[in-house]
Amino acid sequence: MRHLMSPLDFTTEELDRLFDLANDIEQNPGKYAHACDGKILATCFYEPSTRTRLSFESAMTRLGGTVIGFSDAASSSASKGESVSDTIRIISCYSDICAMRHPKEGAPMVAAEKSGIPVINAGDGGHQHPTQTLTDLLTIRSMKGKLDHFTIGLCGDLKFGRTVHSLINALVRYQNIRFIFISPEELKVPDYITDMLKEKNIPYEEVIRLEDIMPHLDILYMTRVQKERFFNEEDYVRLKDFYILDTVKMALAKKDMLVLHPLPRVNEISVEVDEDPRAAYFKQAKYGVYVRMALILTLLELH
Ligand code: NCD
Repeated sequence: MRHLMSPLDFTTEELDRLFDLANDIEQNPGKYAHACDGKILATCFYEPSTRTRLSFESAMTRLGGTVIGFSDAASSSASKGESVSDTIRIISCYSDICAMRHPKEGAPMVAAEKSGIPVINAGDGGHQHPTQTLTDLLTIRSMKGKLDHFTIGLCGDLKFGRTVHSLINALVRYQNIRFIFISPEELKVPDYITDMLKEKNIPYEEVIRLEDIMPHLDILYMTRVQKERFFNEEDYVRLKDFYILDTVKMALAKKDMLVLHPLPRVNEISVEVDEDPRAAYFKQAKYGVYVRMALILTLLELH
């Protein structure tokens, strides 16, 4: 039985097969409409989410399966003090596969150890968010036709943003990727990530100003300042509008640069950018459903 805790749980060849499947689902949805008939997905969300939970639910429903679950810890037995290990044992009796989001780093991994069904990490604290990374990679591969040889700028909250940490981890396995980290001093990418890049000899730069590096980017990955992970409101208020991508900055970028964002957006991308053909974040959300459909089929060994 296989779980998904980190994007590195799949080899790059396995990822290619997963993305081929996702593209086939996109092209031929009817072929897969009953692929999960009779199967049940449990969504166990101990932390708020709109798109991750609903995209999992949409994915399973589009495959013909059904969904049970909870969307906040207060409405689950966690509020009575039940451990994730016990909860997953029970969920294993009720369903065939589980997507779990938890504010504690490593909680889905603890659950996976006691689980009788595949567990998917749907985000654990500031740590990893593998299905968002699969979404990001599928979007890049589908829109750029490749996952190698590009310069990617990651901008915003690089300290607390788990989508950023997961994506960097996943991209280092591809040839000739250059990273530019754009953040205020206080929200720099953690040392364990830059140490890993140094060790692997992967080029990266850390900058504060977005304008200066805009013309060099093939992909710009914007992120929200992660309010819920701040220790004090004052720091959040000071940093939340540090970057705002607008049409003036977009004018500095390459004609085929892609703008990605895991969403939700707050103020970091001005709505006027939505009309720019390079803005790919809403399309990215659509790819999130196809890739989760492909993932469910793969982990349930139905494909
Ligand atoms: C991200 C998350 O939950 O980490 N959202 C998502 O899953 N699409 C990003 C965020 O909350 O900023």
